[in-house]
Amino acid sequence: MAGQSSMCILVCGGAGYIGSHTCVALAERGHRVVIADNFSNSSPQVLPRLERITGVPMACERVDLRTKAPLARLFSRYRFDAVVHFAALKAVGESCARPLDYFHNNISGTINLLQAMEHAGVRRLVFSSSATVYGNPEAVPITEEARVEVTNPYGRTKLVVEQLASDLCRANGAFRVANLRYFNPVGAHPSGLIGEDPTGVPNNLMPFICQVAVGRRRKLNVFGGDYPTPDGTGVRDYLHVTDLAEAHTDALEYLASHDGNLTVNLGTGNGISVLELVRAFENASGRSVPFEIVARRPGDVAEVYADPSMARRLLGWRSRLDLDAMCRDAWRWQSMNPEGYRRNRLHPVRRP
Ligand code: NAD
Ligand code: WQD
Repeated sequence: MAGQSSMCILVCGGAGYIGSHTCVALAERGHRVVIADNFSNSSPQVLPRLERITGVPMACERVDLRTKAPLARLFSRYRFDAVVHFAALKAVGESCARPLDYFHNNISGTINLLQAMEHAGVRRLVFSSSATVYGNPEAVPITEEARVEVTNPYGRTKLVVEQLASDLCRANGAFRVANLRYFNPVGAHPSGLIGEDPTGVPNNLMPFICQVAVGRRRKLNVFGGDYPTPDGTGVRDYLHVTDLAEAHTDALEYLASHDGNLTVNLGTGNGISVLELVRAFENASGRSVPFEIVARRPGDVAEVYADPSMARRLLGWRSRLDLDAMCRDAWRWQSMNPEGYRRNRLHPVRRP
């Protein structure tokens, strides 16, 4: 452990993609983890896999943040030191079609959580925000001082929760909140036991590439080849999910000794184009990824990448794993679990 005493952490949405990797990071630093999830976008099959990786049992409660009573019971059963809050709906397109569902799940759910925390005297929160709050950035790399802009209802939920948390910290000096603005998390745990398992057609690039490589889809549609970028395709800041997971433990340890409200970018600082990612994946996996360049996806922007220096300065965090590791680990997860968690079978652990 990094010089911090062991904490008991509630991980809301801990069965999901980033949450499950964060549970591993927390357990590895000696913290006790309790997962709360309604499994609306995840599978209980992740739990034995987490135990297999960490060697410790993972407490998990089926709780929906939209309902108050079970949440209150959860806080009365455990004495949490802090909460890490991943539980949200996250599909941009779906949020445009069903904004009220997003407002209810992501905003009302968070208000319920904050009320339960206040009632139980739990005052530290790490919140999963997103680079989506920068909308169409005026300049890259993006610093935390950049203008924020809502371009879809999902993004609105992230910005509203950041603002609610800021008001709460102002009103009650005991509350401490870290808003972590993730750029584009990809990859998987090196064991291949946990990873990203989208339901239906993946919205995001890396899971789509993985499903093409494993034979579940015929080809990748590259959305736009005429952006003002070096190869004409969109540029993003992909970061390894295990690096991202570490940032949550760093943020919790920061909050243990600092007052107030913190907002930091989490990215590598490197812009990678769609075609660069496809080539890196082909090299790492040995599979070919057929693609076709098609029209731009509405709402997409040309270039988004972080200035991650504030996370380095305040949290001592930086990304360590390179693009090859991101692709290698994403492919290991996909090739060991072609249908994701749907087949209830633990594979032998293979180390890279
Ligand atoms: P995910 O869907 O895999 O995980 C979210 C988890 O929350 C799921 O297990 C889901 O079942 C649970 N959940 C949702 N609503 C709930 C509710 N009302 N009550 C209880 N559990 C609920 O998503 P992820 O990719 O792991 O993302 C985690 C967080 O990070 C989300 O808040 C997301 O908005 C944010 N984020 C994700 C990305 C990304 O590219 N994956 C980027 C930026 C920010
Ligand atoms: C990356 C690049 C696409 C799919 C989204 C959300 C954002 C955040 C992360 C949660 C872009 C291109 C994609 C495909 C493609 N999520 N692409 N073919 O758009 O940066 O961000 O996920 O907070 O809010 O908006 O990520 O992975 O969808 O796209 O060509 O099938 O890949 O055009 O250039 P994005 P992405």
